Amino acid sequence: MSELPTEADVLAALRGVIDPELGADIVELGMAQRATIAADGRVVVTVALTTAGCPLKAQLRREIEMRIEGLPGVTSVKIDWAEMTPDQKAHAMNAARLNAQSNAGPNRVPAGARVLAIASGKGGVGKSSVTTNIAAALAMRGFAVGVIDADIWGFSIPRMLGIEGRLEAKVDESGERRIIPHPLPMGAGRLDVVSMGLLVDDETDALMWRGLVLNRAVQHFLEDVAWAPDLDYVVVDMPPGTGDVQMGLARMLPQSEMIVVTTPAVGAQRVATRAVTMARKSHLHVLGVVENMSAFICAHGESHPLFGSGGGAALAAEAGVPLIGSIPLEPAVSEGGDNGAPIALGQGAAADAFGQIVDQLVNELAPPVAMAGCSARMLDAAMAALDALDA
Ligand SMILES: Nc1ncnc2c1ncn2[C@@H]1O[C@H](COP(=O)(O)OP(=O)(O)O)[C@@H](O)[C@H]1O
Ligand SMILES: [Mg+2]
Repeated sequence: MSELPTEADVLAALRGVIDPELGADIVELGMAQRATIAADGRVVVTVALTTAGCPLKAQLRREIEMRIEGLPGVTSVKIDWAEMTPDQKAHAMNAARLNAQSNAGPNRVPAGARVLAIASGKGGVGKSSVTTNIAAALAMRGFAVGVIDADIWGFSIPRMLGIEGRLEAKVDESGERRIIPHPLPMGAGRLDVVSMGLLVDDETDALMWRGLVLNRAVQHFLEDVAWAPDLDYVVVDMPPGTGDVQMGLARMLPQSEMIVVTTPAVGAQRVATRAVTMARKSHLHVLGVVENMSAFICAHGESHPLFGSGGGAALAAEAGVPLIGSIPLEPAVSEGGDNGAPIALGQGAAADAFGQIVDQLVNELAPPVAMAGCSARMLDAAMAALDALDA
């Protein structure tokens, strides 16, 4: 028996739904204003569109339903569509404009990028391996992918991707210094990588930064980096455990969606459950579970569940989210990590498993954000409305 979400919870979850072109969330824009929650868990939310025929409507519907269905206790979601009044449109445009001014657009994570945060309750379960391989498989499919190594002191992304050196900075139009991510062409796409490992010279340095950046480091990666405006995805390797970084991410990038990594041992999911609980507390949407180090497949093709089985499915069931996939335990995964060549770029059972996970993300669970050209029309409509108000 779970407690029902309040209207405030529903609206907080909807802050994760962003109008990709206006770069503001639908609550801030005044599009989502009300929600009712019935005692049996049925939720009705009223969403006002700028124009009834907005081509982004289908995408908005999916996003809204996903975010609300992800709340514990919700049994169904109904959207009552409405059309904004001229006043509401003017408000929405104002909010979008203010947002654009305060966020200096292209220097932050672009609103059109899907943000996937890879988390787990504890270290050593394969978060970084999953992060690099999902990023690599996305790039192989032609996407531009930002990679944020948010495991500030335990960074391993540079090693796993085979990159080194120091990130450079440039002064942008507004006179601010911005860090330039490390570009790594891959397949038909590319990775743009930031990591503490590309900012400090050695581990002693990293230790020195420790006190300074505890709360600031991830903010730094989100705000002081010259992120390319064309990013389709941003994949974040979260530090083990929960807490500050996760809450910071939820606050700064509410559109982030979490993928929780766990091992197949029954009982291991208890630790991972905390990551889910924490995500929900900070109104982050949990996309699903990836089980890592599942059965060892021997040379004869036989499957041996060395670390037990069922942990991923148990966590998914407990959290009410899909089990996105299971990665077999395969020496090639860790060799790929040590050699800076993610296994997803190669062949074998693990490579196939990563491929299937990414296909599911791209086709179903977290498709690239469509830029339907809705806001251009919206802008016209809003301008007309403003003119009408002035007249
Ligand atoms: N599916 C797998 N098969 C074999 N080794 C793996 C697999 N996943 C991860 N590893 C290895 O396990 C260790 C921990 O993985 P890592 O991704 O660094 O975990 P985390 O980031 O959660 O601490 C690494 O040495 C990695 O190469
Ligand atoms: Mg790691």
